Parts: sequence; C-alpha cells; structure tokens
Amino acid sequence: MSTFNTLSEFIVEHQMDYPQATGEFSALFSALCLAAKIVNREVNKAGLANITGPAGETNPQGEAQQKLDVLANEVFKSALGARGVVCGIVSEEEDNFIRFEGSQNQHAKYVVLMDPLDGSSNIDVNVSVGTIFSIYRRLTPVGTPVQMEDFLQPGRAQVAAGYIIYGSSTMLVYSTGNGVNGFTYEPSLGLFCLSHPNMQYPRSGAVYSINEGFYSRFPDGVKKYIKYCQEEDPATQRPYSSRYIGSLVADFHRNLIHGGIYLYPTSSRYPEGKLRLLYEGNPMAFIAEQAGGKAIVSAGKSVLDCQPQSLHQRTALYLGSAEMIEKLEEFLTA
Ligand code: AHG
Ligand code: MN
Ligand code: MN
Repeated sequence: MSTFNTLSEFIVEHQMDYPQATGEFSALFSALCLAAKIVNREVNKAGLANITGPAGETNPQGEAQQKLDVLANEVFKSALGARGVVCGIVSEEEDNFIRFEGSQNQHAKYVVLMDPLDGSSNIDVNVSVGTIFSIYRRLTPVGTPVQMEDFLQPGRAQVAAGYIIYGSSTMLVYSTGNGVNGFTYEPSLGLFCLSHPNMQYPRSGAVYSINEGFYSRFPDGVKKYIKYCQEEDPATQRPYSSRYIGSLVADFHRNLIHGGIYLYPTSSRYPEGKLRLLYEGNPMAFIAEQAGGKAIVSAGKSVLDCQPQSLHQRTALYLGSAEMIEKLEEFLTA
C-alpha cells in the first residue's frame, strides 16, 4: 500500500478484495466526494456569498430550512442523479423519496439516504457542520422503478455509511462494514487523503454530550445518568466534561476520537426523540459499531436492529464508547 493514500486509491485497492465488484460502488463514492467538495467550498465562503440565514421554507418535519440546507441538498441530489450511480435517494430536506428515472439510474443497485447538512443552525456562527450518508442495496429488482421498501431497511443492512465534517479541516469518515477510515481533505490538491486509518472508539471516555438545557424534559433514567456523569470518582475519570456543539456530526466525531457518549433522548417535547433514524441514527450507529463503540435507542436495543416504518421517523439515540453505553443501560433499566 502506498504511504500517501488518496480516497480513490483506497477504494480501488479495497475493491480488489471483492472479486464480484463491478465498480458501481466506486462510481457512487466518487459522486459523493464531488458533492462534498462543492459543499465544502460553499460552506467555507458562506459569510461572503450571502448563503447564510433562513431560506424561508420549512422541511418535511416543519423545521426552518437554511439556505445552505437547500444548497447542499441540491448539490448531493444532482451529483448522485446525474452520474447514474443510484436508483433513488431520500433526504431530510425532501418530503418523499426521489426516484431517478434515467435508464442508467434504474439499472443501479444502490439507494442513498442522507442528511445533506447536519447542524445547520450552526452555519451562521461558523461552527462545524456535516453531511451524513447511508447506502443500501435495493430490494426490488434492478431495472424496475425503486420503491418505498428499498429505503425502509434496518440499519444492519447498510452496505456503507459515513459522514463529512466541515470543520477546522474537512474530513470524510466512512465504513463499508470492515472497520472505519478517515480521510482529510487537502484543498490545494482537491483530494481526500487517508489520515485516520482504522479508527477505534476508546473503550471509555470522560466526555458526555447532551443538550442539558432540556434536563427537566428527559426520562428519569437519563436524568440519573447525567447525575452519575457529574459525580466525583477519579477511578472512572468522573466528573466527566460536558461538551455539546449541537451538530451531531461534530459531537460524534470528537467522541469517536477521544472517547465519550452522545445522548439525544426522548423528551416531553420530542416523545419519539428528535433525530431521524434513517439518515442520522443508522449511519452514525453503523460507524459507531464498526469502530468498536455501541449505538442504542433504549436499553438492550441496538439502533441497527430497528425496523423503520417511515422515511422521516424519529428516534432516541445514544452513541458512544462501549463501556459508557453499558453504564447508561444500567440507568435506563433501573
Ligand atoms: P439538522 O441540522 O440536520 O436538522 O440536525 C440538527 C440535529 C443534530 O445535528 C444536533 O445534534 C441536534 O439536532 C441538536 O438539537 P438541539 O438543538 O435540540 O440540541
Ligand atoms: Mn441532522
Ligand atoms: Mn440537516
């Protein structure tokens, strides 16, 4: 393996491990990368280009769309559609799934589910945002129009998932079910280069991430776990530090590298949870498990085992270092 490994080289090298691979996945990934580079460019000049602020519309969940939400959605949608690499997509910013009608698209075997811009309320204040994506093999026959059932698959069926973080540097982190690798964007070359091979969640950590302002709305088990995090016990690195950016991608990325736990529980305001199972929960859970961490929706229930019922379904979400999730489960069951 070369010492300076670009993402495209890495994908080609690993494609050779799968003799039946047709190159379709590599083409899909190349389309995702192109879109990521365009969104990265726009995010970086957002303050100058009059693309911060609300777009004046709401998304299917009734949330105000930011101009960059709309732009990122269009960029990913057109990159994936135009290249004929997927038969359909689902996006946080679209009411229904999108069926690509071109004959090349109809013969594609993959679907992509995405949160084109995660943490969009942070754009205007120059805080890290991200893109989250999830890839499945379609269930209906290739060559026929893609159907709802192709998108409503449990996370366990993901072929690949990942995220791009537009942060102090831009990174793409992804997994095809064989570990997790991180690539940092080199803007002068226009290339993603392998910088974080075989990423592993530390077994434990000293950070908890939750919107604690909503404490009074949380279930009792979560409230008790928060108190546990704040207790003094040097043997378990407590009290933990509280770190909450408000961009799932950024909070998750920090905890993946340093160890930690991310919590977005159900609450009296969001009885089903706030985050979306298909394009936030599942892809992050796939990465978490592939990196040796854990991802649950409730005690003993893995995110990846949930059978989705609808495209924009919400879920409670707990992601993090394995030992920290196991401790949380004790409080959720008590
Ligand atoms: P999005 O910008 O895609 O709508 O996602 C926002 C999500 C997630 O990124 C973040 O962790 C969470 O919402 C923050 O929610 P609160 O403001 O309720 O803490
Ligand atoms: Mn999001
Ligand atoms: Mn979003």
